Amino acid sequence: MRITFSLVFGLVVLLWAGGASAQEAALQKGKQVYDYWCATCHGEGPGKPGTTALAAKYKESGLPGLLEARTNLTPQSVRFFIRNGASIMPFFRKTEVSDADVDAIAAYLTRPKPAAPPVAPQAVRP
Ligand code: HEC
Repeated sequence: MRITFSLVFGLVVLLWAGGASAQEAALQKGKQVYDYWCATCHGEGPGKPGTTALAAKYKESGLPGLLEARTNLTPQSVRFFIRNGASIMPFFRKTEVSDADVDAIAAYLTRPKPAAPPVAPQAVRP
């Protein structure tokens, strides 16, 4: 009984750890591809046309210009922009950025990020 429990527990831990590291590897791959193809325009600091354009585009809504800091991107929207481009952003062909690479970038950009600090609730006056 005890052995069965240990075995099952061990297996669960193994599967969990295996799953986590596979996900970790996918995110690392995503960052790698992103740094290669996208960071020239979407990186941090001055002289990055993507970051500058997005900061201006979303000034009203207060979204960050940096894609890596966004929390409202979906894999679908990331895929769309990579394959279609936008204004001066070129579209990327499958021979440049493969579907697997697009998936990795999408996973990287949409990974769970620490939540923003909660906004203090406003007192509602009747
Ligand atoms: C030549 C510079 C350049 C490169 C390279 C580039 N982008 Fe962009 N990207 C831009 C610009 C500029 C915009 C803003 C377009 C606009 O005004 O709507 C943009 C917009 C986007 C948006 C839309 C964000 C939004 O919410 O409106 C996404 C997503 C995006 N890029 C992802 C990527 C990814 C992923 C890569 C790499 C595969 C990449 N870009 C490479 C310049 C670039």
